[in-house]
Amino acid sequence: MDVEIPLTKLWLQVPEEQELVALALQRVLASGSYILGREVAAFEEEFSAYLGGVCGVGVASGTDAIMLGLLAGGVGVGDEVLVPAFGSGATVTGVLAAGATPVLAEVGWEFGLDLERLSEALTPRTRAIVVVHLFGRMDEMTPILAFARAHQLWVVEDCAQAHGAGYWSEPLQRWCKAGTMGDVGAFSFYPTKNLGGMGDGGFCCTACPVVLERLRELRQYGWRVRDDSGSAGRNSRLDEVQAAVLRVALPKLDAWNARRTVIAAYYQEGLREFCSPDMILPLPDDSRRKSVWHLFVVRARLRQRLTGGLTGRGIGFGIHYPKALSQQTAYQPFGAGRVFPVAQQLAAEVLSLPLSPFLGESCRRKVLAVVAEFCRKI
Ligand SMILES: Cc1ncc(COP(=O)(O)O)c(C=O)c1O
Repeated sequence: MDVEIPLTKLWLQVPEEQELVALALQRVLASGSYILGREVAAFEEEFSAYLGGVCGVGVASGTDAIMLGLLAGGVGVGDEVLVPAFGSGATVTGVLAAGATPVLAEVGWEFGLDLERLSEALTPRTRAIVVVHLFGRMDEMTPILAFARAHQLWVVEDCAQAHGAGYWSEPLQRWCKAGTMGDVGAFSFYPTKNLGGMGDGGFCCTACPVVLERLRELRQYGWRVRDDSGSAGRNSRLDEVQAAVLRVALPKLDAWNARRTVIAAYYQEGLREFCSPDMILPLPDDSRRKSVWHLFVVRARLRQRLTGGLTGRGIGFGIHYPKALSQQTAYQPFGAGRVFPVAQQLAAEVLSLPLSPFLGESCRRKVLAVVAEFCRKI
């Protein structure tokens, strides 16, 4: 059966948005400036203002943002970087691109780092930690930052799935957005993200002016000024087309995130009565967290039966992620000698239901009905 309700629908597929994007593209075309021009500078200012308390630079991708965020902290060859054992392989790729060695750390049932087991992964060479705000929900930043401070670790927040997500900082007594609590925040603008462009793109932000200058140099050949490299940099620039497209999207991000939250609450409400060890729902927000629901990920012990039911009724789904990082051939050495039972069980059970700001009422109802029917049968 054809997919009637896809896992996601992108804002760029909405006809009214396409008209606005066409105008933005025309503006770029006429400008004669296509890389790191006015659109990028304006977007950098606007996204930094949205995040609050940081300044940032546009870069080529989220993976590069992680790499540059580490390099800006002096983390590279010979250094070890802690990375959660369950999540996107892109995070590990970013660490490897910096020349550093990823070290996998076990996660908890809520997909965040298992703080009690974090010190098991420490060695005298550990220099940094990449905290991943997976599926739109921020990880426990207050204790993670305390751990990082105690062990003098550089902190990069991987915010690829968490544009606009919030965390209540007890020490600061205020809400902080993802990307503003660590040393560097790293974002992806891959089209499916909460803030997605029309191709690859990324962003690195920091509250420290010295780190900001370092990031600015690193993204373009290490140039302090044109044709004068102060350090060995990279080529990782955001282009004008992406920045112009992202400027159309940014003012709507909060409204889109709010619509995602409404759909997540609808699923939560409708599936609550079926909660059991066979069907575990994602945690709702608590007093410290405001999720932006990049994905609505349930855990189903009989996942294959559920995917069969969804497919048979034309409903798309995702498996994020089918293997823990510790189970992937290329990354196995980074968890050698340790075990990751939680990460591996999560990989066996997770399933993402359709969710996007453009998922209409009848589609939500159908998704819920099919999942409820499955739950009644198990
Ligand atoms: C958690 C996470 N980190 C990093 C990335 C990398 O972003 P990009 O695809 O822009 O390189 C992604 C996106 O796929 C991601 O989901």
